Amino acid sequence: YRNVRVALLGGGTVGAQVARLLLEHKEEFASRVGASLELTGIAVRNLDAARSADLPKELFTTDAESLILGADIVIEVMGGLEPARSYILQAINSGADVVTANKALLATHGTELFEAAERVGAQLYFEAAVAGAIPIIRPLRESLAGDRVKRIMGIVNGTTNYILDKMDTEGASFDDALAVATELGYAEADPTADVDAFDAAQKASILASLAFHTTIPLESVHREGIRAISGKTVELAKKAGYVVKLLAVCERLTDPATGEEGVSARVYPALISREHPLAAVHKANNAVFVEAEAAGSLMFYGAGAGGPETASAVLGDLVSAARRHVIGGPGLGASTHANLPVLPISAITTRY
Ligand code: NDP
Ligand code: HSE
Repeated sequence: YRNVRVALLGGGTVGAQVARLLLEHKEEFASRVGASLELTGIAVRNLDAARSADLPKELFTTDAESLILGADIVIEVMGGLEPARSYILQAINSGADVVTANKALLATHGTELFEAAERVGAQLYFEAAVAGAIPIIRPLRESLAGDRVKRIMGIVNGTTNYILDKMDTEGASFDDALAVATELGYAEADPTADVDAFDAAQKASILASLAFHTTIPLESVHREGIRAISGKTVELAKKAGYVVKLLAVCERLTDPATGEEGVSARVYPALISREHPLAAVHKANNAVFVEAEAAGSLMFYGAGAGGPETASAVLGDLVSAARRHVIGGPGLGASTHANLPVLPISAITTRY
């Protein structure tokens, strides 16, 4: 096998799980890609911090810049705007492809990063930046690129859904529910990003830009968080047959005043009928409905946050980037190396 050198920036909730899975399934990754994926190091701030996975100590470093220099692919799961932005630019300019989960960075400096990548022919992958484990970026960017998306609507923040769900189903207090969501690794480093819907607005900006093939700046996403939602509000809504959910809605609209067609992107807490499928989205799950002219209505559902869940999306991007590195093209090659046998019907023990 050839060797693809992978540098990991960040070893927190997501990064530690990316590293664990990459090391645990090293052989499978090699067979899927046709090359060995060598984790060359993990850049962190504090070498002595506790990690959610048992990882070799010698992989950790505080010298992110040196790590980037020797990498074919750089995975950025540090979060924040700086130094993440500078590190990604360094990676792109040194010829690496980049995988990131950083929606804050993409919604703020996405244009600069994509232009930098385009200039040197590098790729920037970001499936994990919206809705955790749910594949939604690729469907919008690739599968639906030949259709005309009319609307995207759904729940795109796991932390606030976890809080509102715990308030609704258990009568938990806002603060207690937020503390658990933070403990479980769902919340951002500063949970204000979740509670005040900055995170959901960043995701709406990314989704709307992809869906409508334009740039929807973060500042133009209407944003209302859930800080004002009290236990009393949730209880009253429940009595009336509704549940409160933080919604993101991005749609093509025609301004009735001018007749001009444009895009509206907004995030706000909404009353959802208990009959609606979104009412059944519990815990830190997310759900995104896409309405397109020819495809009709599509629904994407699953874990919107969490270490292993988000690592799944990051590693999917890593496989694409590594295949691109080895085989060329878009990196979508079929897996033909595993050679697993087909089992007889008698092997089925599961009942669905
Ligand atoms: P954490 O805060 O758990 O981890 C951040 C990691 O980055 C830590 O290991 C930290 O080091 C390291 N780090 C931070 N700043 C620096 C720096 N300046 N130099 C070197 N290392 C640094 O964050 P998460 O893993 O939760 O999130 C990472 C990214 O993934 C964010 O962009 C987030 O928005 C995104 N994301 C997170 C999801 C989740 O469910 N948690 C889901 C989807 C996306 P140290 O450990 O030493 O402090
Ligand atoms: N803090 C984010 C959330 C992580 O709760 O949805 C996933 O993007």
